[in-house]
Amino acid sequence: MSLKQDAAARALWSPAVRELHAYVPGEQPQGTGWIKLNTNECPYPPSPRVLEAVREAADERLRLYPDPTALALRQTIANRFGLVPEQVFVGNGSDEVLAHAFCALLRHGRPVLFPDVSYSFYPVYCALYGIEPQPVPLDADFCVRVADYRRGNGGIVLPNPNAPTGIALPLTELTQLLEGNPGSVVVVDEAYVDFGADSAVTLIERFPQLLVVRTLSKSAALAGLRVGFAMGHTSLIEALNVVKDSFNSYPLDRLALAGAQAAIEDDAYLQTLSARITASREWLVQQLGDLGFRCLPSSANFLFARHACARAADLFAALRERRILVRHFRQPRIDNHLRITIGTQAECEALVDALRSILSKTPAGTATAAGASPTASIGTP
Ligand SMILES: Cc1ncc(COP(=O)(O)O)c(C=O)c1O
Repeated sequence: MSLKQDAAARALWSPAVRELHAYVPGEQPQGTGWIKLNTNECPYPPSPRVLEAVREAADERLRLYPDPTALALRQTIANRFGLVPEQVFVGNGSDEVLAHAFCALLRHGRPVLFPDVSYSFYPVYCALYGIEPQPVPLDADFCVRVADYRRGNGGIVLPNPNAPTGIALPLTELTQLLEGNPGSVVVVDEAYVDFGADSAVTLIERFPQLLVVRTLSKSAALAGLRVGFAMGHTSLIEALNVVKDSFNSYPLDRLALAGAQAAIEDDAYLQTLSARITASREWLVQQLGDLGFRCLPSSANFLFARHACARAADLFAALRERRILVRHFRQPRIDNHLRITIGTQAECEALVDALRSILSKTPAGTATAAGASPTASIGTP
């Protein structure tokens, strides 16, 4: 195709799309031999019951559309959380559920609040739907101060635990935030809640403005199935359905519906995986501490860490050369941190070995803060 044709086709873009800066997901490398600690996937396989259900669903019924209401899955989720199906919405990953929430519930011509260090998809949804984003600074320790959310707004979005910090907000403080915002939808994104935070589902009865969003991508080890869901007052769920049915009536295919239902039913398996991951997390915190890192207190399946002397960008690059992927965000406040997904115990050990070797080649070695240059660069292998 010629450059002229290229330019002509670009001129056909909708004006709003020209202004968009889309979300950039973590790298999904091709080929084998990578240790992937960059997208907070689960390092263990999904429940065998999920795989069996997906296999069973893969038959000639695939010629038929799936149930557009996903009733059986919503019923299973409702049973699991003590709700009714009308309080449950399901979508193609929690990213889609969040997108519908921004469109259906957060477009009021007033700014939407979320932490300044948070999931980087939120400002993208704001741009997509013409919502003014208003990032609210976390405190110096990267904690949410709920008092800062007492200001005029068109809605609030809070990941709990927060990402990429991993820090959880206690339910008492979330309750204060909800009490202070009776007229705003408060979306609590619980993508990582199973790794150590308290769920806000118990507050749904009391606060009709609360929408809790979950995913099967992390603790259920099903990032590849693309299933997320939201729980809240029936009227909030109704608004999500209006948007969904104005966009795609069948966001979940037959295989996803079957697999997701089996996953929700196999809660014991999820608990086992979460326990294994939190045990590796605590081990890794200790090991990274010994190497001169400071990790924020994590209630998630990842750590957010900075080294006392070595630059995060250099560590990221040196690890990548050893085929270990972690996440580095070139953003104000956090560009000297690495977000490290908890892998299998063997992967965590390989990471520690690699970091030990990388840091031994730095001028400051593995020395901790005192007297060391905060920006020492690293010799790559
Ligand atoms: C805070 C948070 N919310 C939502 C998501 C989206 O998850 P998914 O679309 O896989 O359900 C992620 C993914 O990393 C996340 O970190």
